[in-house]
Amino acid sequence: MTTKLILDCDTGSDDAVAIMAAALHPELELLAITTVNGNVPLENTTDNTLRVIDAIGVSIPVHAGAPRPLVRPDFPIPRHVLNEGREEFQKMRLDFPDPRSTASGRNAVEVLIEHYLSDEGPETVLVAVGPLTNVAAALTAEPRLAARIPRLVIMGGARGWGNVSATAEFNFWVDPEAAAVVFSAGIRDVLVCPLDATHDAPLSRAHCDRFDAIGTAGAVSTSLMVRQRIDTYPGSEHGTLDAAPVHDALCIAALVRPDVITEWVDAAVTVETGGLHSVGAMVVDDRSWSPLAHNARVALRADADIFADVLSEAFSA
Ligand code: BDR
Ligand code: CA
Repeated sequence: MTTKLILDCDTGSDDAVAIMAAALHPELELLAITTVNGNVPLENTTDNTLRVIDAIGVSIPVHAGAPRPLVRPDFPIPRHVLNEGREEFQKMRLDFPDPRSTASGRNAVEVLIEHYLSDEGPETVLVAVGPLTNVAAALTAEPRLAARIPRLVIMGGARGWGNVSATAEFNFWVDPEAAAVVFSAGIRDVLVCPLDATHDAPLSRAHCDRFDAIGTAGAVSTSLMVRQRIDTYPGSEHGTLDAAPVHDALCIAALVRPDVITEWVDAAVTVETGGLHSVGAMVVDDRSWSPLAHNARVALRADADIFADVLSEAFSA
């Protein structure tokens, strides 16, 4: 039995590992990739996505989606201000050869609506590892989608520290209104993999050695990207850190090995859209006396070795 999925992403290096794992794992069937503005502008997330699928020799339809957040003209702090002086941190172009394949020319939102209203919709997991703009736009344009998406797995949010501000994680912060729309849509099975879980399962240089030994294109390029992430991770001075989170790919591992998530809470989740110091923050209400209905499962801890096992399976296939 394989799990069908659509992956919505803003391809930087952790999205790239997620794409490769989803495309190559024998228990997964990646039907389509939709791209969104996020790590880099839409044009570049789409171009990076095409580079990745070409590099591993798979043919998967790629549909470009939203070039900006749902409501705001730009991020809460505009991209050029946020990235000033750290151009190297967020590379526009991943280190793969120029793509040969091209995007479909169809809009991601239109494709999501069409797919989830089709017979295949109710058997296709949606995995969203970028800002939630495309998903929110699809749910807003076609509210019947909420009941047709059997499962939504999201990388985003932080119950503890954020990575853009003390409270907010990047994906939710980039488009907080979209994230709020998605959590209020009524999708029955939502798994959130926030920073709490992804930081608990970092991939290490030893895991990279294992990928190198597998030697396939997916394994070797993942090893390179993960080593780059370790070398450039905040706090790593001259390569002194041994491991770094590869956030988005953890969502893919959770599809194959649910036990990669070792601790979670069921909760009423929403995302702060105002707030001087808290815009984009994920609010996780798992109080037993909360009046709010639970709408998501929030992963809190994860197992790095199981994560690496799933990637190894994908790259050995
Ligand atoms: C998330 O933000 C992006 O930079 C990563 O690709 C990941 O989806 C982590 O906060
Ligand atoms: Ca991402």
